[in-house]
Amino acid sequence: MRFQGKVAVISGAGSGIGKACALRLAQEGCRIAALDINSDSIPELKKELSAYSRDFFCREGDISKAESVNSFVLETVKQFGRIDFLFNNAGVEFISALEETSEEDWEHVQGTNMKGTFLMSKAVLPYMKAQGGGVIVNNASDAGLRGIRLNAAYSSSKAGIIHLTRSMALDYGKYNIRCNCICPGCIKTPLCQRFNAEVGALEGKTGEEVLNEFVKANIPMQRVGMPEEVAAVLAFLCSDDARYISGAIIPVDGGLTAGM
Ligand SMILES: NC(=O)c1ccc[n+]([C@@H]2O[C@H](COP(=O)([O-])OP(=O)(O)OC[C@H]3O[C@@H](n4cnc5c(N)ncnc54)[C@H](O)[C@@H]3O)[C@@H](O)[C@H]2O)c1
Repeated sequence: MRFQGKVAVISGAGSGIGKACALRLAQEGCRIAALDINSDSIPELKKELSAYSRDFFCREGDISKAESVNSFVLETVKQFGRIDFLFNNAGVEFISALEETSEEDWEHVQGTNMKGTFLMSKAVLPYMKAQGGGVIVNNASDAGLRGIRLNAAYSSSKAGIIHLTRSMALDYGKYNIRCNCICPGCIKTPLCQRFNAEVGALEGKTGEEVLNEFVKANIPMQRVGMPEEVAAVLAFLCSDDARYISGAIIPVDGGLTAGM
């Protein structure tokens, strides 16, 4: 159990990639502090985590609000005494051309994806510094590596997360804090399902048709990824095997962003 005694904070752990990551780290002995804005997701998350551990707590919270973030981080430290890993995973998708993006939509997407990553990191860093180190992993997207049509707000928020990761790696390496970024491609989660259903509605197709066509035309490995395949990369980045990796931007996308 390589993460015995370690503590991980995971945002957006109630669904998809975040949940798979919480379960994977718990399976390897990590204590989990999980946060999600959707309170309905918490009971099921608790049930699934309890198969591996009793050392976790899951709470409703909003990463876009400093008060919510700060009280969650404080509660984590009160309960577990330290924070070894932070996975900034929670995010929202958004499909629209720039002209049809309202100021409110823009603020919701940037406020969750970009500002949420900033607020969570800002709240956790002092504890990591004081204890002599830690690992932060941000969840961006293939959309952060290149533009995506009808995706200006989302893509720009994810590109911002990539640069935020690099800046954090530069500033906090001297405190033995590593900061890296995962860029998932097409991963089978509710978000991916919603995304394809919305694109399908614009194109007069089902979400499944959109997804199948996209996979065939764009993903060299010819399949979608599974949340557990992202969780395996997170576990590696948190582990000592990755002790000299910081500032890295790692696609987990079956080759999607390798080229045309
Ligand atoms: N699934 C994919 O194909 C894919 C691809 C690239 C990037 N990503 C990124 O991976 C991350 C996880 O996505 P997923 O596919 O698991 O999506 P998901 O919708 O299944 O899960 C996201 C979780 O985040 C929570 N959340 C949303 N806003 C929040 C907030 N303000 N505060 C706290 N929690 C909040 C949601 O309630 C949900 O439980 C996101 O950042 C997403 O952009 C996903």
